[in-house]
Amino acid sequence: MRTNVVIVGGGPAGLLLSQLLNRDGIETVVLERRSAAYVCARIRAGVLEAGTQETLRLAGAGARMEREGHVHHGCAFGLAKRQFRIDFQERCGKSVMVYGQTEVTKDLYDAQAAIGATVIDEAENVALYDVTTETPFVTFRKGGQEHRIDCDYIAGCDGFHGVSRLSIPAQKRTEYERVYPFGWLGILSETPPVSHELIYANHERGFALASMRNPHLSRYYIQVSADESHHAWSDDAFWDELRHRLPHEAAESIVTGPSIEKSVAPLRSFVCEPMQWGRLYLCGDAAHIVPPTGAKGLNLAVSDVYYLWQAMLARYKEGDLAALDHYGHHALSRVWKSVRFSWWLTTMLHRFPDQTAFDQRIQEADLEHLADSPLAQAALAEAYTGVPY
Ligand code: APR
Ligand code: PHB
Repeated sequence: MRTNVVIVGGGPAGLLLSQLLNRDGIETVVLERRSAAYVCARIRAGVLEAGTQETLRLAGAGARMEREGHVHHGCAFGLAKRQFRIDFQERCGKSVMVYGQTEVTKDLYDAQAAIGATVIDEAENVALYDVTTETPFVTFRKGGQEHRIDCDYIAGCDGFHGVSRLSIPAQKRTEYERVYPFGWLGILSETPPVSHELIYANHERGFALASMRNPHLSRYYIQVSADESHHAWSDDAFWDELRHRLPHEAAESIVTGPSIEKSVAPLRSFVCEPMQWGRLYLCGDAAHIVPPTGAKGLNLAVSDVYYLWQAMLARYKEGDLAALDHYGHHALSRVWKSVRFSWWLTTMLHRFPDQTAFDQRIQEADLEHLADSPLAQAALAEAYTGVPY
């Protein structure tokens, strides 16, 4: 088998890259180790930046998002003594779209099927070869048989636990990491969201977030210790703790119900440099991880894909290799801005086990400044709705 670009990983990054390249006549093969059903069952955040919305439209995969997504012009912050709202539209002229990543992934699978793109799921033992030569290739196992695909380029879209990043020699990789000493216990409930916008709460008992998927499906989170199991939390215990942490008005009006999904997610910041090696290009979680506080994971995967798509277009349509050579530097510039924003929001809103009284005062000063300063709010609004591509 031969193709232009082998894409390892059929999550949002891999599927979107395949969709964009194929629509421009650049052939791809996506190799996904799980089944499509498994990939589409993942519950993930869905706060889409303007750039993400536009890129999905360009890929021909934005129609259902337009119909079913909910535009949010702002969000609220709950503090011990006050609650305030940041109006994104007023502060920076942009908004976000709330539309679950699960739905984005389903739409991408459907769009790929509609154009007849090659997506091979349950592809096992994917291995990358000769990535620093002009003739890289990939092998994989499917249906008990070994297969080989020769290609021009390989896109590593296989997430944090994939094989692509490891194809860059360890001595050539610099990995930046911060593991946070807490996790997020999240539940999904078929209840009306407590608010029409998201509420981020900083409380002495810990962080909480009120979010949603649609008017009938709520998503809530509370900060828990890093090693906590969701089995340790009954629904009632979760709702009680959430009520403690949300602002009073929300706590009084929340509609509770049985959880239909409950899980604990660890929080980390991670960046691998470089994001390219020979003819291998990393996109999304394969190259970087952000804590979910700023809802940047999917959005950063999309901006990586956008840059790589544009670079591949220049190469295949004009024979211009400059953008491909510069891809990693270009992507990392936006990655680090979003990593910094996600770190800052996480540090400002969570309780750290070793937090000193001084740390507490700094956190309170940060939050008060955000509550009172239009300029501080504009800076948050710009980062939350997405720094320019
Ligand atoms: N071979 C083939 N596929 C693999 C391999 C492998 N060795 N390892 C992982 N994969 C697949 C996974 O099964 C997954 O479907 O690669 C895909 C990677 O998808 P994601 O982890 O979703 O990463 P990405 O596409 O970059 O999307 C980033 O997803 O995880 C969230 O929070 C993250 O919102 C962000 C978004
Ligand atoms: C979610 O709805 O899952 C969500 C929303 C915003 C975040 C994180 C998660 O910052």
